[in-house]
Formats: sequence, C-alpha cells, structure tokens
Amino acid sequence: MVSKSTESLSMCKNESQGLCNKNVHNLMLVMGASESYNYKGWLFQRQFIFHWNSVPGDHTDRLKNFLVSKYNIEWVKYASVVKFGDFIRMSTNNNYLTIFRYCKDKARLTIDYKKIDAFYLEPKGDRLCVYQNYPIFEGDECRQYLHEYVPLHLPQIVYVLRHILQKTIFGEAQSIKILDIGSGPATVPLAFCKLKEDSFKSRNFKITTVEASKTFNNLIKNFKYLNQNKHIEIVDILECDITNFMYKPALKSGVDWIIMANSLSAISKDISRYSGEDVAKVLNKFIYYYIIYNKKINYNNKLLMTIIEGSSTTYFNSEDYLNSIEKIGFTDLKIVSIVHKDNQSINADWIKNCIFYKTKYNLCKPVVITVSLLVGLKK
Ligand SMILES: C[S@@+](CC[C@H](N)C(=O)[O-])C[C@H]1O[C@@H](n2cnc3c(N)ncnc32)[C@H](O)[C@@H]1O
Repeated sequence: MVSKSTESLSMCKNESQGLCNKNVHNLMLVMGASESYNYKGWLFQRQFIFHWNSVPGDHTDRLKNFLVSKYNIEWVKYASVVKFGDFIRMSTNNNYLTIFRYCKDKARLTIDYKKIDAFYLEPKGDRLCVYQNYPIFEGDECRQYLHEYVPLHLPQIVYVLRHILQKTIFGEAQSIKILDIGSGPATVPLAFCKLKEDSFKSRNFKITTVEASKTFNNLIKNFKYLNQNKHIEIVDILECDITNFMYKPALKSGVDWIIMANSLSAISKDISRYSGEDVAKVLNKFIYYYIIYNKKINYNNKLLMTIIEGSSTTYFNSEDYLNSIEKIGFTDLKIVSIVHKDNQSINADWIKNCIFYKTKYNLCKPVVITVSLLVGLKK
C-alpha cells in the first residue's frame, strides 16, 4: 500500500484549464506516474510473434522465447516441434502444447486441453504472420499505461461524463451505482475526480471496478485508499475476466450505470477480429447473466450503458460497431433510447502540456467516439 504523502513534482503549466487538477495529478503521481519511467515501446502496437510457415524452422526459437517469457513455459526450451496440417505441436517426454489454426485468421494455444490464449493471423506477401491478441498488461506496463494513455483518456471521459450528468436520466437519485468495466488504473474514477463540484449536484457515485490485470487492480486499491473526493467511492474491486463465464465474483452492489471506457477491444480479446455482432453477444451475455439474471439491475429495470472509445482500430473496429450499435442490437436486451451519441476530436494542446503525457511517438490525436444507451429487457 502506498503512503498518503506525495513526493513533490511540479504541476503541469495548464492546471487552470483543468487537465491536471491538483488532486488528480497527485493521485496519478502516487499511483506510479513518476517522471523517471523509461519506455520500452508503444503499448498498443500489435505484437508480431512468428511466421506460421517458418515453424519448425527459422522462427522456432522466436516462438519458444515468446512462450517462455509470456507464459513461463520453461520446458518448451527443450521441446521438439512438429507441424501437421493446421497444428503446431511442441512436446517433451512429459509435456505438450498445441497451436491450432482453427480458422483462416485465428489460432489457439492449448496446453493439456486447456485453452491458454488466442492469436491473430494475417498474410503479408507469401508469409502468414501470427500476432498476439489483446494483451492484459502487468507490472511496469501498467505504469507505462499511466503515462501514455491516461492523460489522453481523462479529457475524453470527462467530456462524456459532463454530457451525461447534465441530463435528467437518474432523476432525483442521490446515489448512482456504477460498474466500470476494464477499469485499467481507475481511469474512470480519476475522470470523476476531475469534474467540478456542480456536476455532482450533491449526488454520490458508488463505483465497482471490473478489471483482469493484477497490477491495475493494485493501482485501483491505491486510488481507493488515496481518494479524498467525498462524491466518489470505490465500493468493490472485482479482479475478473468478463469473458470468463466459469468464474466471476459476486456483485455486491446493484447497477444503474455501466461504463466501458476504451475496453471494447479488450472484451473482444478471445474473439480477435470478430464482428460487431460478436461483441454485442459478449455484452449481452455479460449484462443478462451477470447483472439482470442476478437481480442487480436497479434503476426502473433499466440501466444506462456508456461506451467510450478512441479512434484506434488495432484490435477491433469499435467506431464501426458504435455507428451501427442500434441496428445490431442485442439478443435479450432492448435499446430503450439513445441518451447521447458523439464523435469528436478533442483539443490536443491541452494534453501535450500534461507532464504525464509521454507517448513515444508524440502522437496526440485524442478522439472521443461514444454512445450511451438506456437498455432494458426484451419482453
Ligand atoms: C485500454 S484499457 C482501458 C482502461 C481504462 N478504462 C481507460 O479508459 O484508460 C482496457 C482494460 O481492460 C482490461 N481488460 C482486458 N480484457 C479484460 C477482460 N476480459 N475482463 C476484464 N477486463 C479486461 C485490461 O486489463 C485494461 O485495463
């Protein structure tokens, strides 16, 4: 657990413009966004693993090194490697794993019949390149994320929260229960902290975070411990994978508002490059079985679902999906109304002046693509 006293680090020059509000700045600082961090690369570049055609062959060692560093499978160093049809098989006397290309552009890694991960395949000239799927960041990558992405995401999320909170959607309710899916380093709670007092209209926001990464969950714990904004409370921190239907911790609180900020690509992790229809199925399953079936829906048997995305299409084309979300719809959920829909660029100079903004390529094209839907059950 971190200490409540913060090191001194000069504030961003544009504090008055609200990007680096002092409390949020200090929170980010203690959560790990210090000036000294050295980057190793750009986090969201899809990682190339190997050429399918070159294993066994020139890329065998490359694939073995990846399996050792990513999943700690030490025995592959000594494994024999064979390919038959769409299977690559690695084995020693006691162990084996397979990488099975089960369709044109996807493969899955299985150890002892357990599915471990999925990869995405793309032809480049006469070679078939295998890429890593959406990664769950851990360790220093999470602090790198605080530098590279949180400063871009805060103004984007604040922009959307302001629009929603101006509306009368929650009536007179004084306590709004939020499920923040794919919370990362508590970006949505940090964005709430950047709102001005009058946006709260004396309401309190009780946030349950849902996050798969251990390190990000530790950063969320730090936020919970350090946060002094009386309107915002993290009531529960759920460490879970929303696409895993075998295990999910019970939801203690009800849900009025689901917020998914920059996490649609994340939920399409196992179904890389799937269509909007497939992502809609995952969302439907999660909301229907986890929230509605467990009677955790609060507000008038409806809930607000806010999806916020940037413009990247590295893992999933969320812009296309959000444009057609009403047409695609959901199996069990009815879209009662569209509360807010927008596609806007945000003034980039704000963000470049933030001392935490450290994207290696100095790429700053913050965009907010967002839809907020009121959803209920289909009869
Ligand atoms: C791009 S980050 C967004 C973080 C934060 N909401 C923001 O806007 O900065 C996506 C997050 O989703 C998490 N994630 C990925 N797959 C997940 C899954 N299946 N279940 C829960 N969280 C997941 C990742 O660990 C990551 O923190």
